[in-house]
Amino acid sequence: MPNPTALTPYPATITKIDVEAGDTKTFTVVFDDPEIMENFGNQPGQVCMLSAFGEGESTISITSSPTRGKFLEFCVRRVGRLTSVLHQMEVGQKIGVRGPYGNGFPYEMMKGKDLFFIGGGSALAPIRSLIDYVLSDQYRSDYGRVEILYGARSMDDVLFKSDLAERWPAIQNTKIYTTIDRPEEGWNGHVGFVPPFIEEVAPTPENKIVILAGPPILIKLGLAVMEKLGFKDEQIITTLEMRMKCCLGKCGRCNVGSKFICVDGPVFSLAQLKEMPPEY
Ligand code: FES
Repeated sequence: MPNPTALTPYPATITKIDVEAGDTKTFTVVFDDPEIMENFGNQPGQVCMLSAFGEGESTISITSSPTRGKFLEFCVRRVGRLTSVLHQMEVGQKIGVRGPYGNGFPYEMMKGKDLFFIGGGSALAPIRSLIDYVLSDQYRSDYGRVEILYGARSMDDVLFKSDLAERWPAIQNTKIYTTIDRPEEGWNGHVGFVPPFIEEVAPTPENKIVILAGPPILIKLGLAVMEKLGFKDEQIITTLEMRMKCCLGKCGRCNVGSKFICVDGPVFSLAQLKEMPPEY
């Protein structure tokens, strides 16, 4: 059984690699020990530590939902040494995976509600696990309408293109909105930044939960728009998983006031964030 406090990574094999964008790939991995795979028990919104042996490790959110099968998907943007090493790896190679860490999204509390997802850039990765969970055959009837508003810098930077264009819109009672920052040849969708696009789409707050993920500026401006649209703090959920380092409550690099993002989060409601010092 996986032990969330374990420092030892479990060996896993890369079984598939999808190129999402110029600097981003999604790795599908399966634990070498079938019992660990069977019992890993990850929840939407949790993260793992991935290691390339002898090269170090890095915190990466699990982008797959446990409802999709006995594998894990990690969407990795090439931003440093470890992620560059991962990007050079091929199908069949081994990595280490420890976790899962963090509280995950409160999907039980969201039952019976309409859900409005907002993602910017690479932050579609952590919320994709929840999107696939609530849209799964097992749980679709537990949730109301699901809308997803996603923005990327350019067409090339749009992640999970087939999910956004084909897989999710094909599921009953969903609506997808995508935007890129500037006009590009071949793009027929919306153009402009995410916060004004939210205002344009203007979701209404009745019986709705908003799940917002993105870089700090998008979170800040997005929260302001949601408040303007009449959403209450308890209706807005976000994830700060990008602040997690050791994931064990030990390195002290993720604390905000008395809270440790890696232990108390990374998922918080706006109401919870407002109780914390404004340094998140
Ligand atoms: S990430 Fe190290 S204490 Fe939270």
